[in-house]
Amino acid sequence: MRRKLVAGNWKMNGSLQSIFTLMEGLKAGASSITGSDIAVCPPAVYIPKVVGLADGSAIKVGSQNICDQDSGAYTGEIAGSMLKEAGCQYAIVGHSERRALYGESDALVAARFAAARRAGLTPILCVGELLEERENGTTEDVVARQLDAVIDLEGVSALADAVIAYEPVWAIGTGKTASPEQAQEVHAFIRNKLAAADATIAENIVIQYGGSVKASNAAELFGMPDIDGGLIGGAALQADEFLAICDAAQ
Ligand code: PGA
Repeated sequence: MRRKLVAGNWKMNGSLQSIFTLMEGLKAGASSITGSDIAVCPPAVYIPKVVGLADGSAIKVGSQNICDQDSGAYTGEIAGSMLKEAGCQYAIVGHSERRALYGESDALVAARFAAARRAGLTPILCVGELLEERENGTTEDVVARQLDAVIDLEGVSALADAVIAYEPVWAIGTGKTASPEQAQEVHAFIRNKLAAADATIAENIVIQYGGSVKASNAAELFGMPDIDGGLIGGAALQADEFLAICDAAQ
């Protein structure tokens, strides 16, 4: 039985003060979330602080990105071993903002995925199509290509300890959520694609949905058979809203 995971992607938001307030709120409510897993992914400089604040709760911490290399002359990057040492358990790779704004290719995303596994972190691999790709009917091709980049590099067995986040790019930060049926269709496609290679991995892998998830639409989305929680952006910045989404997952 898969356990749902709700992860908050804080993106480049917050301050020491606001993060303290957010974590106090999350900690107060997290004890009543026992039926699903919770993680938060703060901006990298705040990771040690958030790990400290999360201490004693079930809230796990992840990074928003990770270097594809393990150490050396890679100015501005952060190695998996550093994230692990700082207390991370997860690392988001291939978020559409990284792909679109910072030019991360499928190959680079796959290399970052591999780096996360080398460091003992669980990668949260983001995949998803642009609006024009949905409109011209290539959603499945795009998602398959993004998955294949990882499978070609690491083998399908690498997905045994990974999470996939299906995030249609047109739904991120736009207020336009994919309908539960639209999301389910792609989630089922992903699971079936993996099942063709390894039925056990396909059955066990957590596939999150991301893109304008809110407390008001979470239950409907998470009620679909292949949607195992969510990767939450804007709605993860308010404790009450995020906790309500976590509650919907349990
Ligand atoms: P959103 O972002 O919930 O604000 O749409 C989701 C994400 O980018 O992971």
